[in-house]
Amino acid sequence: MSNLEPREELASIAASLRAYLEWQLDCGSSGIPRRPRAATAAVPPAQAAATPSAASAATSAKDEPSDPSPAAPSPIVRERSTPGGAPAAPPPGSLPPITLTESAPAPSKRSESATPAPRTIAEPRPLPVLVSDVASCTKCGLHATRTNTVFSRGNPEAKLCFVGEAPGADEDAQGVPFVGRAGQLLDKMIQAMGLDPAKDVYVCNIIKCRPPENRRPEPDEIATCIPYLHEQLALVEPKVIVALGNTSVGALLGTKLGITKVRGSWKLYRGKIPVMPTYHPSYLLRSSPQQSEAKRQAWEDLQAVMKELGLAKPARS
Ligand code: URA
Repeated sequence: MSNLEPREELASIAASLRAYLEWQLDCGSSGIPRRPRAATAAVPPAQAAATPSAASAATSAKDEPSDPSPAAPSPIVRERSTPGGAPAAPPPGSLPPITLTESAPAPSKRSESATPAPRTIAEPRPLPVLVSDVASCTKCGLHATRTNTVFSRGNPEAKLCFVGEAPGADEDAQGVPFVGRAGQLLDKMIQAMGLDPAKDVYVCNIIKCRPPENRRPEPDEIATCIPYLHEQLALVEPKVIVALGNTSVGALLGTKLGITKVRGSWKLYRGKIPVMPTYHPSYLLRSSPQQSEAKRQAWEDLQAVMKELGLAKPARS
């Protein structure tokens, strides 16, 4: 952003502002939401650790409670960390990290040799292999009713990852996450952050197959599917995750607290990746008296994410 000519920068700010206003209009607003007088304290930096686990989603994004292929280089595409760097210790109770695993060294026929015996390294599956393994998955009943598995969209090199709940009808039909109404709103939220949904973010879900009738995924379905997401996130290595709605927050962080309680405060995924819980776009699309405040809070959450990523503050804040 800062490398832009003033005229380009102005155009970019105007584009963000337009996306933001369209987002608000889609949600039924007629103006810019304002912070209430008794404003809450600023969101602290990523710090609070959460206990990760598999499946414990309490409620669905689809009825969120009132409590409750890489393109041109982009400003936030990260440099990859050096392979083999020391991984952070996972917190107690977490699933084992998906990294290189070494088998015991095979006994060497030339044990007198000073050269250490070669060790067998089991490499993690590359992303395309994981995608195709997911596409043929039959581990839970959802495979029987799906049209397509739904793996991801966006840029796997991006620093920022959004994790939703599960595909709906449009996503099932196209095999791409967040392409329906909620996805259109998500794109406007991303654009309002000054980011390009195709280049600057990676988008995926807790569950890779559509639950029939768009019902909330069952805990056993989440438990069966979430190892794929853990593997996916270990390969993509986002710098920040935005967890959209109750199911995502519950499954990523192992909390049963509703989204209204946890949103806006930084948590850690597997003890190392900052997670910002916020409302699911489907919830923001509903019209109810709470929505205006929820939208303001969601925007506050996304601004905290921008700050964490060192992105320019949007003009309207
Ligand atoms: N809602 C989600 O959580 N994910 C999608 O892919 C679409 C809608």
